Amino acid sequence: MVEAKTIQSSLMQTYNRFPITVAKGKGSYVWDTDGCRFLDFTAGIATCNLGHVPQAVKEAVSSQLEELWHCSNLYHIDAQEKLAALLTEYSCLDQVFFCNSGAEANEAAIKLVRLFSTERSNIVTFRQSFHGRTMATLSATGQGKIQTGFAPLLKGFTYFPYNDRVSLARLKVEQPAAVMLELVQGEGGVIPAEQDWIDELVQICTDLQILLVIDEVQTGMGRTGSLFAYQQYGLEPDIITLAKGLGSGFPIGAMLAKKRIAQAFQPGSHGSTFGGNPLAATAGLATVTELVHSPVIQNGAEKSMLLITYLKQLKQEFPQIKTIRGRGLLIGMEVADVPAGEIVQAAIQEKLLILTAGPSVIRLLPPLTITEDDILLFIKKFRSVLTHVFS
Ligand SMILES: Cc1ncc(COP(=O)(O)O)c(C=O)c1O
Repeated sequence: MVEAKTIQSSLMQTYNRFPITVAKGKGSYVWDTDGCRFLDFTAGIATCNLGHVPQAVKEAVSSQLEELWHCSNLYHIDAQEKLAALLTEYSCLDQVFFCNSGAEANEAAIKLVRLFSTERSNIVTFRQSFHGRTMATLSATGQGKIQTGFAPLLKGFTYFPYNDRVSLARLKVEQPAAVMLELVQGEGGVIPAEQDWIDELVQICTDLQILLVIDEVQTGMGRTGSLFAYQQYGLEPDIITLAKGLGSGFPIGAMLAKKRIAQAFQPGSHGSTFGGNPLAATAGLATVTELVHSPVIQNGAEKSMLLITYLKQLKQEFPQIKTIRGRGLLIGMEVADVPAGEIVQAAIQEKLLILTAGPSVIRLLPPLTITEDDILLFIKKFRSVLTHVFS
């Protein structure tokens, strides 16, 4: 047996890891290698939306493991076709390209925009956005800290202020090929887009034939209370990107587009060895089937209201909590006086996993399957974390 220490020292230090080795998960809980149980309000950062090891996905993947693991995209893959059909049935998009991650889904979207828009190539994105870590997607990301040291960045991105109606006038001057945005900026601090701003943005895009690309990597798959966040804003995107919750933890990403745009991709335009392979597509198919045919998204929306009610009570007790915001079970809490990271560290002592979103925001991402009892336990643990940190 190789010891965990040896394994860790051989890894590139791209993450500030917490001192826990997670060995097992079920529903809203994970266990470490010592058998210690943690209440997990991170869901693998909005990935295990059905909870850890959901039965339906486990059964589907287990039976696929007996049949076929991988097959090139040069052949038809039944689960991939079925998953694409389901995603297009439950969205306003017509065709799907499968890949392995959120960054790759956004890469595919950027390539499709460029191929489709022969006369324009610029893409407007927003400050504090996050679109991934590949060269194109970090160039699209409106955060200097993600880009530092990686120059030269890919050309063709302009960053506008988020939720700012005044600057939208500049869109008419710029006339970009596309606008790409998250409807709740996740990594950037859990900032929901304001409806008025979105309405104006969409109107300009429609008038000037600017493509609307919605990055649903974090907001998608039921996370915000509907299958996709765009469905709550009364808009029809031209392109959306998915990953995270699409495979319940099995790596899969997708880029969906309207047919007239998708047709710009011809054989040879784009590809991926693993994208939507039989195992990944099976995990995706079982996940989306569960999301659309069970009451899990409804449960998430209801439990969001309950959780926010309790969080508001905590806000009364702890004035250091400045704001509570978000949509569905993508919830952010702005805190003062201590860095959010310190609260996350203290939560580990209480056997509670939570996240930050920037230096002063606590981010909560429980699974959509969360129960009332789990929420009550969370509040009990979180209250004791805040008492400890703020005393
Ligand atoms: C909105 C958004 N887009 C893209 C990404 C990148 O996804 P991945 O880490 O799967 O490449 C993330 C990851 O956090 C995200 O939140």
